[in-house]
Amino acid sequence: MHIDIITVQPDLLASPFSHSIMKRAQDKGLLTVQVHHLRKWAINEYGQVDDYQYGGGAGMVMMCEPLANAIEELSTERKFDEIIYLTPDGKTLNQKTANMLSLKQNLLLICGHYKGIDERIREKYVTLEISIGDYVLSGGELAAAVLVDAIGRLIPGVLGDETSALTDSFQDNLLAPPVYTRPVEWNGMKVPDVLMSGDHKKIEDWRYEQALQRTKERRPDLLRDH
Ligand code: ADE
Repeated sequence: MHIDIITVQPDLLASPFSHSIMKRAQDKGLLTVQVHHLRKWAINEYGQVDDYQYGGGAGMVMMCEPLANAIEELSTERKFDEIIYLTPDGKTLNQKTANMLSLKQNLLLICGHYKGIDERIREKYVTLEISIGDYVLSGGELAAAVLVDAIGRLIPGVLGDETSALTDSFQDNLLAPPVYTRPVEWNGMKVPDVLMSGDHKKIEDWRYEQALQRTKERRPDLLRDH
């Protein structure tokens, strides 16, 4: 998969993909991420990419021309499966959307800043609008980093143990069950006996029950939606 990201704050995206699983995905050649500074397509020598909003009001709006030129130029290099705009008024990201996107070849992510991007760019180019939650960030960059991480780890072949993504929280609309490692007893608290029984069926049943219980208590909405 190749992901292009258009931003006015490339520094914010300089390192999130150089660690851990995202690094492994890139080292294995399964993911490439290219960050593009929108100023490259600025309308004048001052590097202008935004302007005042019509109708008045505080906050600048990212202009059509630089964004359109960036999108058009990158589209000559790759055929994008989705052009995604990160915005708080988009569809809230969930595991189902991450799964769907993890099977694509080429994604283009647009990070908004200031008051956002001119509506006409959304109408003409954007195919998917994603929010990472009901709160407002200073820009779309951190949201883009979250999205790339959520998608990247699901690309087939990225995780060493292929079953590991399958047991994540949300993968089957359940939260993940509790996990334990050594020592068996810590601060008077013991690891549940069943996990040391060696009985795989029993362990699987216990994990399912725990996951169900946890979901009922913490996120009953997930069970209702199922
Ligand atoms: N840009 C600003 N806030 C955001 C959010 N919650 N999700 C995605 N992009 C954003």
